[in-house]
Amino acid sequence: MVCLGNICRSPLAEGILKSKLPNSFEVDSAGTGFWHAGEQPDHRSIKVAMQFGIDISYQRARQIKPEDLDYFDIVFVMDSNNKKDVLALCKNDSQKRKIKLILEEANLNELNVPDPYYGDEKDFLHVFNLLDKACENLTQQLIND
Ligand code: 4NP
Repeated sequence: MVCLGNICRSPLAEGILKSKLPNSFEVDSAGTGFWHAGEQPDHRSIKVAMQFGIDISYQRARQIKPEDLDYFDIVFVMDSNNKKDVLALCKNDSQKRKIKLILEEANLNELNVPDPYYGDEKDFLHVFNLLDKACENLTQQLIND
């Protein structure tokens, strides 16, 4: 799960998907930027996740590294800017094929998870709901594979 800072959207996506999948699946998150590396998720992401019984407070932000593109089978990005930035790190077509917009899984009208960083709790709840829908669909697909 990849966003810009790895403190708002992708920690939620990691927590939500982990809460739905069996432990045999490895789920992680990272940011395209390095500014927040080592930090806890944004307190508003921690709070909205807790409202749905998901603890993400243990997560620590990190920047995506080139090896992630070989190690992980699928790399979900939150928006088209993240997609452009991650595609720029790819060394081959096999890595490029792993990059997907997470809302492509959600059958919604939106394709980008909006950045809630400068928003308020309502924006974080909207992000949670978008990601929950996407992760629910994704879980059905992965478990049926
Ligand atoms: P995220 O949100 O990419 O969902 O973690 C952001 C976090 C921090 C910043 C921007 C977006 N920032 O500009 O510091």
